[in-house]
Amino acid sequence: MFEVRDLEACFRKNGQDYPAVTGLSYKIEHGEILGIVGESGCGKSISSLALLGLLPKNCRVTNGIMRINGEEYGDFSPENLEDLRGDDIAMIFQEPMTALNPLFTVGWQIGEAYEIHHPKATKEEVRSVTYEIMRKVGLPRVEEVFFNYPHQLSGGMRQRVVIAMALINRPEVIIADEPTTALDVTIQAQILQLLQKLNQEEGTSVILISHDLGIIREICDNVIVMYAGHVVESGNVDTIFADPQHPYTKGLIASIPSMAKKGEKLHTIRGTVPDLYLRNNGQCPFADRCDFATDCCRNSVPDMTDIGTHHVRCFLAKAASQDAVTEAAGVLPQGTEADHA
Ligand SMILES: Nc1ncnc2c1ncn2[C@@H]1O[C@H](COP(=O)(O)OP(=O)(O)OP(=O)(O)O)[C@@H](O)[C@H]1O
Ligand SMILES: [Mg+2]
Repeated sequence: MFEVRDLEACFRKNGQDYPAVTGLSYKIEHGEILGIVGESGCGKSISSLALLGLLPKNCRVTNGIMRINGEEYGDFSPENLEDLRGDDIAMIFQEPMTALNPLFTVGWQIGEAYEIHHPKATKEEVRSVTYEIMRKVGLPRVEEVFFNYPHQLSGGMRQRVVIAMALINRPEVIIADEPTTALDVTIQAQILQLLQKLNQEEGTSVILISHDLGIIREICDNVIVMYAGHVVESGNVDTIFADPQHPYTKGLIASIPSMAKKGEKLHTIRGTVPDLYLRNNGQCPFADRCDFATDCCRNSVPDMTDIGTHHVRCFLAKAASQDAVTEAAGVLPQGTEADHA
């Protein structure tokens, strides 16, 4: 239903392109929740802003296509994606205050999101659709809250308003970029439950961006692990948690507090994500932080490989699966067809 293929987005500096996202591909089926996880600076936000034509001025899409219900888009310019924004793909940002205008009532702002895509709608229609969506996202006393300004609402209510704005045109896909980071823990859980409920009831596909693998595990069907602009591992959430193959994914999982045994020190991944302008693009993106890196990892970039259960970009995982193939061939008796193959 929704597909991104080989997406690359680069920042331009001194006449040179620096990829913040490269070779990103994924598919989302109707009603699926896909998680995108990775540390700060891995390219999670840029990969989504690119799809909406909302990239910073010094950044542009240099490769890739996206497909929505069979229709293909290869031009990611803001003008070309304008009609799509809000109608087919909507985005929810981390900090609700930045998405809301402090000078207008929340009801007016939710209604405006509808009017942009329904310019012929009457005032009564806009009001009634707005009330309906406000109720759907769990806002209380909607006739009253409609006339409130953003500062009169709590953070959790503001995020519900932003979700209402994103949902009012019934988009195919909602991209939620760290939608709960600015909220306290109980409100976080409520907002995640709301996204899950809307996904189930409306069949809206959700891309949930988070640095928190715990959250991803809780509500996503599939997950993409990003590191320094690359996808390093992707697949079904349960499979990735049960059988992570990339050293980066293993490190992320081991650093989730709830995964550690009581009294055990929490795992940390040494070092940080390399600066965009200082990356060595001729080696495995994770080589400098990886405890298992070999010369091969420092001299070439691994491809994304299908290892049977899911996909991994790591020479070690690849070697492991090749071992398995060799081993499997080895069990055949001498002189069988395998010898002649
Ligand atoms: N406006 C900008 N100008 C220059 N570089 C930028 C800008 N925005 C992002 N970058 C760089 O692009 C890369 C990807 O950034 P992005 O915002 O996508 O990361 P992220 O994974 O969303 O991180 P976070 O978890 O902190 O939100 C980073 O190296 C970042 O420094
Ligand atoms: Mg981000």
